[in-house]
Amino acid sequence: MAGPSQRTVSRLALASVVANAGIVVTGGAVRLTASGLGCPTWPRCTETTYTPTSEYAAHGLIEFGNRLLTFVLTAIVMATVVAVVRQRPRRRSLVRLAVVVFLGIPAQAVLGGITVLTGLNPWTVMAHFLLSMLLIGLAVLLHVRTRESDGPVLLVVKQPLRRLSQLVLVVLAVTLAVGTVVTGSGPHSGDVEAGRTGFSPASVSQLHADLVMLLIGLSIATWFALKATDAPPAVMRAAGVLLAVEVGQAAIGWTQYFTSLPVVLVGAHLAGACLVLIAASRLVLMTRAHGAVVPVSAKDAHSLRYDPISSVPGRLAPALPGKRVDKIADARESHERDRPPVRR
Ligand code: HEM
Repeated sequence: MAGPSQRTVSRLALASVVANAGIVVTGGAVRLTASGLGCPTWPRCTETTYTPTSEYAAHGLIEFGNRLLTFVLTAIVMATVVAVVRQRPRRRSLVRLAVVVFLGIPAQAVLGGITVLTGLNPWTVMAHFLLSMLLIGLAVLLHVRTRESDGPVLLVVKQPLRRLSQLVLVVLAVTLAVGTVVTGSGPHSGDVEAGRTGFSPASVSQLHADLVMLLIGLSIATWFALKATDAPPAVMRAAGVLLAVEVGQAAIGWTQYFTSLPVVLVGAHLAGACLVLIAASRLVLMTRAHGAVVPVSAKDAHSLRYDPISSVPGRLAPALPGKRVDKIADARESHERDRPPVRR
């Protein structure tokens, strides 16, 4: 029986990104409605039942609903694993990634359980959130990889610009981590009894906002540097999308700060954090591509036409047989030097 098509695998990987981001937002809804201990124990909801009882009213239903959503996420991520395993030819790189994304779910279930059992300790809440961010990043990588080959890695922008895009991602990671400290110091703890970090919310908010300034500054610099070096349209688009979501997210951040953190805005800020992460991960991934896989024997190679890589239109040097090229200039030069005669 034929395995799933590349398109199916890619769609499932995309669904994994969406489901992982979705559960962050629904998890946020639990915290923002103070339902974090709506099911006071784990894995059961109450000491005697797996489902909420009337004693815990709406909070129980909200927390239990979020737990049920884990099953939806599990189904999607598991379907992705099955699809990459059944895909022909099977690509070990995709199988490995899909399995890691899948293993994130039991890891999150355990961490979520510890979060409940520690009475929503803010540091475990932070770890729970940041692990989700890591899983979203890996799911984005999986999605991008499903649309590429396993050929050699080629840079599609100059190396310093790739480094700059990676720096943006690192600064974003720190911004996200500090954002969770702001939350852990603020009023939205998930339950009236839950502990706080003890930091001054105003001071950590200031640090968070300073990091955001640095992030946006670097992202603007990246956009201009890419433009000045005539980067491919796909990379320019990714850089533009990142800037747009960052500015939107910063606007939500400031508005919520100056309006005493209304839950709707805090929820939107959570969704925005996922979008910024997805956009920044995509930008880094767009700065390189995997070239076409071509036969390594010289005889085979010379009997082939060179096949320009289509995923990033018009900019990639073709992969060369048996060679790993990791600089676009090298790729272009050695392509010119070694170009085999094209048979008509
Ligand atoms: C690209 C821009 C930004 C990103 C990626 C970002 C990310 C985050 C993240 C991940 C959290 C933690 C969410 C949670 O744990 O539930 C957070 C919380 C927060 N952020 Fe930002 N943020 C950005 C911009 C800003 C700005 C400009 C401000 C203005 C002061 C701001 C103010 C806050 C506040 C007050 C919280 C705590 C909300 C709460 O108590 O639940 N953010 N942010």
